[in-house]
Amino acid sequence: MSMLLLKNGLVVDPSQGISEKMDILIQGDKIAKVAKNIEASQEMKTIDLTGKVITPGFIDLHVHIREPGFEHKETILTGSMAAVRGGFTGIACMPNTNPIIDNEGNLELIKARANRYNLTNIYPIAAVTKGQKGQEITEYGILKEAGAIALSDDGLNIESAQVMRKALDYAKIFDLLIISHCEDQSLAGSGVMHEGFMSTKLGLAGIPALAEEMIIDRDIRLAELTKGKIHIAHVSTREGVEIIRRAKAKGIKVTAEAAPHHFVLTHEAVASYDTNTKVYPPLREKEDVAAIIKGLADGTLDAIATDHAPHAREEKEVEYELAPPGISGLETALPLAWQYLYLPGHLSLLELVACLSTKPAQILGIDRGTLQEGKVADITVIDPQKTEKVDPQSFYSMGRNTPFKGWELQGWPVMTIKDGQIKMENGRIVE
Ligand code: DOR
Repeated sequence: MSMLLLKNGLVVDPSQGISEKMDILIQGDKIAKVAKNIEASQEMKTIDLTGKVITPGFIDLHVHIREPGFEHKETILTGSMAAVRGGFTGIACMPNTNPIIDNEGNLELIKARANRYNLTNIYPIAAVTKGQKGQEITEYGILKEAGAIALSDDGLNIESAQVMRKALDYAKIFDLLIISHCEDQSLAGSGVMHEGFMSTKLGLAGIPALAEEMIIDRDIRLAELTKGKIHIAHVSTREGVEIIRRAKAKGIKVTAEAAPHHFVLTHEAVASYDTNTKVYPPLREKEDVAAIIKGLADGTLDAIATDHAPHAREEKEVEYELAPPGISGLETALPLAWQYLYLPGHLSLLELVACLSTKPAQILGIDRGTLQEGKVADITVIDPQKTEKVDPQSFYSMGRNTPFKGWELQGWPVMTIKDGQIKMENGRIVE
């Protein structure tokens, strides 16, 4: 059995409340021992990680992988490589592919292709409604049995409250989580950015914050009514955070995530007319950014999820109104979180790692997000000192659509280990 010894790193494991310098011995695909000064022996491969941070592997709750159907934007292989480079040992993939993942057959197809590469764990999310049309709910029991980790019509709002109620009710029977993309389409209309002074100044149609908040409120109330499990995707507004905070205080079963672009950028970024700033929900105001950060810090928002949404260059190189929304986020998530959440002191190291690993694992109900002895060795190593400019040309993702091009960021993942095997070292995939 292979043995890998990670020596002298700062071990940060929120599942055990550990944040101290220790060694980790990996045997085969499991964590065999976590202790101070584990003695190296001949048969072990030993890596000195002095100055590095060792965490449970990151898990991204919200990834658009595009295969099948949109392989010109991203494939399972390129998306998996981007995940591994970003330090993610697991990604939950949204079903808005072509065909949409709304039946057993399509789910089997994703699983078969995902397992071919063995780079990162892929957890497929199935659609809440057939064809993501928001009308007829899918077969949750069959989908769960076929491997769906959760349900979502992400990319689209479920317009009918009646359908959402049924979905929550039905999903509860199978203990399935519903991930909600909150946006009242009748209010969002043809908006392409946040509605506010910038949209007026730029002459672009706006999406009011209320379009998101009304549905967050509706879905949480429906979860309360049905006792179903709801997860709010990509929260972007201050009132949205507040609604979730109040619901949690009331004991309603709700979890929520925020994307790096929503805690780093504001609608001012759209002034460049760079279509890489176009994303749904849109970039909001500085008060919203502050509220998202506070929400992550006090646990109102449970997880950091990228909403990785790769698009082809030619699709983004059009007028702002015509460009598809989305940001390629897997490869910049950690340094953005490091620089904008950890370094300024908004989140402690334990809190940051909880948002990237332990809590997403709990939300999905998977036995990951921990460095406990005996658990699967899915591990991310961070170099807190590494400073690098974001270079989209170096992305493994086919989607180079990032508004962070040229930004100098600190705190990058330098090693990703899945099942005890090194999959990425110093930013490069290990073959
Ligand atoms: O910006 C976004 N892009 N938001 C979504 O909800 C969907 C995603 C996509 O699929 O491109």
